[in-house]
Amino acid sequence: MPPATPAPQTDATPAAEILMIEGGQPLHGEITIGGAKNSVLKLMAAALLVDAPVTLKNVPNISDVWVMAEVIRHLGVDVTNPADNQMRIDAHNVTETSATNEYVTQMRASFNVLAPLLARYGKAQVSLPGGCSIGKRGVDLHIKGLEALGATVDVTHGVVTASADKLIGADIVFDVPSVGATENVMVAAVTAEGKTTISNAAQEPEITDLANFLNAMGADIHGAGTHEITIFGVPRTQLTGLSYEVVPDRIEAATYVIAAVATGGDVTINRVRPQHFQAVLSKLVEMGANITTPTPTSIRIQPAKTTLTAQNITTLPYPGIPTDLQAPLMALLCTATGSSMVKETIYENRFNHVGHLRRMGASIEQDGNTAVVTGIERLSGATVSATDLRAAAALVIAGLAADGATFIRQLHHMDRGYDGLEAKLRSLGANIHRLREDALPKGVTL
Ligand code: EPZ
Repeated sequence: MPPATPAPQTDATPAAEILMIEGGQPLHGEITIGGAKNSVLKLMAAALLVDAPVTLKNVPNISDVWVMAEVIRHLGVDVTNPADNQMRIDAHNVTETSATNEYVTQMRASFNVLAPLLARYGKAQVSLPGGCSIGKRGVDLHIKGLEALGATVDVTHGVVTASADKLIGADIVFDVPSVGATENVMVAAVTAEGKTTISNAAQEPEITDLANFLNAMGADIHGAGTHEITIFGVPRTQLTGLSYEVVPDRIEAATYVIAAVATGGDVTINRVRPQHFQAVLSKLVEMGANITTPTPTSIRIQPAKTTLTAQNITTLPYPGIPTDLQAPLMALLCTATGSSMVKETIYENRFNHVGHLRRMGASIEQDGNTAVVTGIERLSGATVSATDLRAAAALVIAGLAADGATFIRQLHHMDRGYDGLEAKLRSLGANIHRLREDALPKGVTL
């Protein structure tokens, strides 16, 4: 696990790092997938509900986890790492109900500390998450849900302040199945008085993981993973500390599946839940990928028997094709035979990777939230920059399959959500190395 507290950025901040990938190596071997970034961050926030120790297992070693640890440490929570990929959170001594420091504004998931602080202390203050490169990412549905439970919510000067003498169960209907809003409301409803229903709830596996975690804590939640969730409020005294293993990261897993397909490799991926990304696996098989599930928790990718063919992709809330895999899938479609239409329906601006794929020779025409990808024989290595976490993954996949060397800059995006990516890929035979930009091998220029 990383240092307990990230070093503050100073003038001595180390030189930028880049990934250098020599493409063309079919990946081969086995890897194991870590815990889900988009679950563990919410479990860390929900641990604030209870004043007894919570131990999380299968915690990925990624910078978003380190940031969330700082967010809750600033509230007085004791966070330690008793072993690799384990985290112990003890919120018995919360000293602060206001989360407005620089760590909070770095990461949208920090907003999910709002509900447990409000439920436990009757008040909470959290900085508004900034928009990000992929969209405006509002929080109106979070606020609507908490107000329905009886909270008074004020948004001023970029800070959300919520208060409630008592939270009372309510029937809440979401306009869109927001993952974060479903999670914030579910947590707030755990100790609300009476019954809460969430209709048009998000159905992602991370919602189910959070509900399982809360029920193991003593909550009474039913229907998680469907579009209708019911929470029967319980007294806070019924909640206890617990030990819980984070669900495997379906997005990380699918990223490696796509990389294996893109390089024509033979890879087995262990400790996954194939059912958590069935839509993606089915789409890859439709393309001609050779994918089997040797066991209920493993996937094997072998060289395809035919060339991959173009497919249309539309991102949808779960169980549809996830928006977080739109960029990785586009990287694969760049060399599929024919034209693919890629439609992004979740975010307003999640095509920042298109320009960088074009630098590698891809033929992509974008029109609003739709991109048409016309397959070419092979991508060619180039110097590109990551613009967000999943764009970084797309560029890695493209570099692995491309002819020649690819250099990827702005790696901090990738480090937010992929634990040891280059080490895992190197263990599969990839020629990939992380270098300092001011110490490149002789003859290499960016
Ligand atoms: C979660 O974000 C994930 N992040 C995202 O993963 C993922 O893309 C997203 O769910 C959709 O699956 C985490 O869990 C930490 P949403 P979240 O609320 O909760 C709009 C990654 O790469 N919206 O379902 O923020 C919003 O702007 C990240 O790992 C409102 O308008 O997603 C977006 O367009 C990126 N008002 C859409 O709904 C609201 O109150 C979906 O957002 C809430 C959301």
